[in-house]
Amino acid sequence: MLRATLNGMEQSAVQLFSDRYGGEPEGVWYAPGRVNLIGEHTDYNEGFALPFALGAGVCVAAARRDRDTISLASRQQGGAAIAVPLTGLAPGLVRGWAAYPAGVAWALRSAGHQVAGMNIAVDADLAMGAGLSSSAALECATGLAMVDLFRLPISRSELAAFGRRAENDFVGAPTGLMDQLAVLLCEQQHALLLDCRSAAGTSVPLDVASAGLALLAIDTRVKHEHSDGGYGARRRACEKAAQDLGERALRDITDVRMLSKLDDLVILRRARHVVTENQRVLQVAAQLSAGRTDRIGPLLTASHVSLRDDFDVSWPEADAAVEVALGAGALGARMTGGGFGGSVIALTPARSAQAVADAVASRFSLNGWPAPAIASVRPSQGARRLR
Ligand code: GLA
Repeated sequence: MLRATLNGMEQSAVQLFSDRYGGEPEGVWYAPGRVNLIGEHTDYNEGFALPFALGAGVCVAAARRDRDTISLASRQQGGAAIAVPLTGLAPGLVRGWAAYPAGVAWALRSAGHQVAGMNIAVDADLAMGAGLSSSAALECATGLAMVDLFRLPISRSELAAFGRRAENDFVGAPTGLMDQLAVLLCEQQHALLLDCRSAAGTSVPLDVASAGLALLAIDTRVKHEHSDGGYGARRRACEKAAQDLGERALRDITDVRMLSKLDDLVILRRARHVVTENQRVLQVAAQLSAGRTDRIGPLLTASHVSLRDDFDVSWPEADAAVEVALGAGALGARMTGGGFGGSVIALTPARSAQAVADAVASRFSLNGWPAPAIASVRPSQGARRLR
């Protein structure tokens, strides 16, 4: 994660806007990335997740324009403008980063909302493909700009669903709703307990600093894409398990013993991860509500073990980061996000944070892996208009 201040990033997005399109934008919107504290691969199983918003994200400077085209320029992508005509816009026509904002416009227009031409300039201080939901941040920042500029009667929860539709049906990644809800609904110094069946979120206090703790986000520098096959295969295995058990979703299984009816061992392991993960989320949320942040470590680590051994979505750099962090004094550590690459989080006593970061960095160096990017993160406020 880079260290641009929000103000600096806002100015930089405005500057890019003026350079590309001339004049001033009508507004600037910001959406953060997220870390999921716990509750992985539970969202599309209608279960529970507990994400928080980061203090790094995506800034979008935007204005309406007369032609029925969205122009998109991003500082991280070389700054050249890409023109996306809205008439005839359909899945498959836009590739790369521009597919996320274009997909939101497509999803809104498909539902009858009047989104028309816009000029958009993007700047970000959030690593892409690091498992911190840079895609949801981009969707939600541009989505908020569309809602404000075209005065769309849409709530934040509804906008989250349009972001998901963009990702599922336009980009082609079969993801759940957690990331967009996290980005749009999280509050400062809180995690958000999401019930992914009702899409309801409840803020739970997560003030690590007052508890004498730190949360490290360790970007392992292994990139991932959820439009690749692994994520979709996990999703299908979960749906098969629910179907074989005669339930609407794995959310409805609350006792692992019920899984013994599954004959296929791989399907059983996938389902066991989801069922136990839902229980861990609720236990972590209960500990946080009781002010016992210091007790959640073993649950975080158990989540990692389950993702590694039952769900098979971990990767060697993540396993090494977790193992080394725990050995250097972390209270708990786990991969975060969909897996196959991305980031690990470690909960440490504040006084051990540096030692944990150093130990992880030296293991990566010893293994000949690119140096991980390690930052101390704090639960921050969700998406908003900056000007
Ligand atoms: C990705 C998806 C989310 C969720 C996580 C795994 O981040 O976008 O919807 O499924 O993976 O918890």
